[in-house]
Amino acid sequence: MGNRYLNIALPKGRLGEKVYAMLESAGFGCPGVMDNSRKLIFENEDVGVRYFWVKPSDVAIYVERGAADLGVCGKDILLEYEPDVYELLDLGIGKCKMAVAAPKGFVDGRERILKVATKFVNIAADHYRKAGRQVDIIKLNGSIELAPILGLSDTIVDIVETGTTLKENDLEVIETIVQISARLICNRSSYKFNSDVIIKLCNALAAIKEK
Ligand code: PRP
Repeated sequence: MGNRYLNIALPKGRLGEKVYAMLESAGFGCPGVMDNSRKLIFENEDVGVRYFWVKPSDVAIYVERGAADLGVCGKDILLEYEPDVYELLDLGIGKCKMAVAAPKGFVDGRERILKVATKFVNIAADHYRKAGRQVDIIKLNGSIELAPILGLSDTIVDIVETGTTLKENDLEVIETIVQISARLICNRSSYKFNSDVIIKLCNALAAIKEK
């Protein structure tokens, strides 16, 4: 593909739409990106950008392996998978937190191994390791809130945005692990060979973010 285009992986969904709006304001627009079609790749030769929509949790893989020069993903993905990429900018959107939650009134007796359900096994393991608490981590792929209700786990480690999901399932946050937001990430060799345009894009986004 050469250096003719800057390849940018956007996370499919509401966050990606916000990110694209920022890129458009920054002067990196591309016709068709926001059309509600099944098309996945869009390019604007004049500006030199090519966008593609990918599953949010896959963005870092595209960037790490160089299929994308740049991408946007949540800090949760960076903490969980530690991809070998540069984190260039906190975009200040997609804000939420990674938290430990449990059924209301839960008290950790500490006399036995705590069962923890999560999609984020590394973040959870790291959190409890630092707390010196022995845990049995149960990896799930979604609807994590069900686990303590059905007795599959004692607690969960999950993303909390509005808190509605926890509330509607009689769960509450017992500890916040880390604040999360969307980050602009960059492939390491792309940064080396294409730094001018990448820095230009990054600065333009930083200026938009300040507004
Ligand atoms: C995420 C997260 C929580 C929910 C939190 O789930 O895992 O379930 O959003 O949002 P809230 O605090 O605003 O209610 P997602 O929608 O990604 O689905 P999932 O069940 O597949 O994890």
